[in-house]
Amino acid sequence: MRTLVAVSLALAAGSAAAYASRRDWTGSAACGTCHPAHFAAWQATPHARTASRFGKKPDPKCLACHATGEAPAGPPVAVEVGCEACHGAGAAYAEDDVMRSPVVARALGLTDLATPAARAKLCAACHLRSTKKTPFDPAAPVHTLAKAP
Ligand code: HEC
Ligand code: HEC
Ligand code: HEC
Ligand code: HEC
Repeated sequence: MRTLVAVSLALAAGSAAAYASRRDWTGSAACGTCHPAHFAAWQATPHARTASRFGKKPDPKCLACHATGEAPAGPPVAVEVGCEACHGAGAAYAEDDVMRSPVVARALGLTDLATPAARAKLCAACHLRSTKKTPFDPAAPVHTLAKAP
């Protein structure tokens, strides 16, 4: 019954029905256990520090862009633009054997960001209405690794 209610709420809110539960998310630290370099690089970006902008009870409507999870429809998983805010809720795909097959990983929720168009669409969901006057560049690095240019 609980689950049914949660699913119908998610559907009513128009959010992806696949993200019906908090258990669908693993959290950035879990991704970092296998991707330590990406984790370290991401931690140095403003995406990892959005919590510092808010008090104890951030407005859910702000968390649609400043957090990871299902805000404003549901509670945030974390007040940060975490790995899964861009790559998709990871509980189903964050397994070594799954991750080694991009086709299987994508079928289990890993967002396909391979093309510039897909990447631009991802960023636009949060950055289109951004307040800065400088033009936004969807190709800007989000977790530059040491060896990357
Ligand atoms: C148990 C270890 C493990 C965990 C946990 C894990 N990954 Fe992976 N991931 C891998 C492996 C192995 C690969 C394939 C080889 C590589 O690219 O390093 C991979 C590949 C990827 C890729 C590239 C996929 C492609 O298109 O080729 C992305 C993006 C990714 N992981 C993101 C994540 C995110 C986000 C999380 C957390 C939700 C996560 N991973 C958790 C092991 C893991
Ligand atoms: C549609 C997505 C979206 C929503 C909703 C949103 N923000 Fe933001 N916010 C952003 C983005 C993207 C940036 C980064 C802008 C940049 O640096 O180009 C940002 C930046 C900020 C900054 C940094 C200062 C600045 O203006 O660059 C603050 C503070 C902030 N937001 C507070 C809030 C608050 C408070 C709310 C809720 C009332 C909110 N935001 C709602 C996307 C959003
Ligand atoms: C702001 C969005 C965003 C966030 C946050 C983010 N990524 Fe990514 N990630 C991307 C994009 C876009 C790509 C596609 C490759 C590229 O062009 O950089 C990517 C690529 C990857 C890859 C494939 C290898 C590579 O470097 O291209 C891995 C692995 C990965 N990310 C892991 C992570 C992990 C782990 C986290 C959290 C610690 C994370 N990402 C956070 C957007 C993001
Ligand atoms: C889930 C919403 C969300 C997504 C998706 C997202 N961002 Fe952000 N981004 C933010 C927010 C919110 C901030 C502001 C963080 C802060 O300053 O507190 C931000 C800040 C940034 C900044 C720092 C801007 C500055 O003024 O220093 C860059 C660069 C950036 N994002 C690039 C990207 C790129 C490139 C993508 C797509 C690959 C992307 N973002 C996807 C929400 C998002």
